[in-house]
Amino acid sequence: MEPYPLEPFRIKMTEPVRPTTREERERLLQKAGYNVFRLPSWSILVDLLTDSGTGAMSQEQWAALFLGDEAYAGARSFERFQAAVQDYTGKRFVLPVHQGRAAEKILAQALIQPGDTVISNTFFDTTLANFLFRGARAVELPAPESHDFESDAPFKGNVDLAALEQTLQDLKRRGRRVALFTMTITNNTRGGQPVSLDNLRRTAEVLKAYEVPFHIDACRASENAYFIKKREPGQESRSIAEIVRESLSFADVVTMSTKKDGLANVGGFIATDREDLYREFSQYLVLWEGFLTYGGLSGRDLEAIAVGLKESLEESYLAYRIGQVAYLASGLREQGVPVYWPPGGHAVYVDAKAWLPHIPREQFPGQALVVALYREGAVRAVELGSLMFGKEKQVERELVRMALPRRVYTQRHLDHVLETFGRLAPERHRLHGFRIVYEPPYLRHFLAELAPVAP
Ligand code: F0G
Repeated sequence: MEPYPLEPFRIKMTEPVRPTTREERERLLQKAGYNVFRLPSWSILVDLLTDSGTGAMSQEQWAALFLGDEAYAGARSFERFQAAVQDYTGKRFVLPVHQGRAAEKILAQALIQPGDTVISNTFFDTTLANFLFRGARAVELPAPESHDFESDAPFKGNVDLAALEQTLQDLKRRGRRVALFTMTITNNTRGGQPVSLDNLRRTAEVLKAYEVPFHIDACRASENAYFIKKREPGQESRSIAEIVRESLSFADVVTMSTKKDGLANVGGFIATDREDLYREFSQYLVLWEGFLTYGGLSGRDLEAIAVGLKESLEESYLAYRIGQVAYLASGLREQGVPVYWPPGGHAVYVDAKAWLPHIPREQFPGQALVVALYREGAVRAVELGSLMFGKEKQVERELVRMALPRRVYTQRHLDHVLETFGRLAPERHRLHGFRIVYEPPYLRHFLAELAPVAP
């Protein structure tokens, strides 16, 4: 098992967590329609639903909140935010948004026409939904090694370059327009796996030849850069900041939810060097988010993000963060739980169908595991399988993701997760599947209601 990393901080403020009984959790599950998005957070002991907006801010971030300039236009907080984003991305034009999907909506409106194709290493769910909502067809081309759950390949988040070239050629021959290519770094729905600098560079070359705009979804660009520094030949002596900037230099447009590597509880941005795109995005920003200098955020949020972006580049922080993920993943692997290997940047991914082979896909084995983790240990994880994606695409594996909030949980919390799996293991053949009793047309996993299927 990987050693637990030493935290490069100490704790100054605490948030109480209330213990609950199994009966209480069973009642809450029923009330929530067995959808853990509908559970109250007070009933959760270790919340690994997402790493998005759930991190702990540093003392520097809390201090920065007091500097918030809440002017509607021209706030000083925006200047600090803009400078921080320019520094992080190396891009000139910066538009703040209230969270990542707002950036995706603006991008979709500006670049996608109904019937266009969009291509990616793999889209995140909100990105995919926003692009499909505009009438696009989506093609995902993850690297072949990403299908292998076991191998130690260093950059399983890469796009399959040969397939990309082939797809672009075919679409061109058929006279079909490609609106954009999205590289998601790290690749959230593929094990949180990194994308190499080499893959980014070559992708940019291919896209240039076909005149397709290159979009980078940079939610976890700092974590991605840490993997590049550790694994890519020739990168070991560069700073994380330099690697992030070079990674993003290949993109025409960068979007980021600063709820992830922005180390903030809210926010996001669009950044580009292209003035034509900046002007077009600006119109939609004013229409949907707010004026150019706040984009749906308060001045104090802009301040916290400006500090957080910088902190995410500290190597001691990233070593701790990625070490924590490796600790949990290796602990589960030692118990025989099938986890995606090597561990990714922000989360551990379990192949629920492999662990619960008796539950058919149509009965959502991932959700069965998610429900069992909560019932047994008040641990909240999230399904990334047929419930989340079954309507939009062919799902390869029924995954359950446990995402680690940044700077929040201790070793004992993670040991509690390991123990919960340990207690479930001998009983797991008794777990049963679920059926959907209500679902909305888009992003159904957030709002769906389920019922147990009798064993
Ligand atoms: N892109 C990626 C790769 C993401 O992981 C997310 C959010 C978004 C875009 C959208 O950002 O939530 O600020 O609107 N991911 C969270 C998660 C929700 O749990 O992985 P948002």
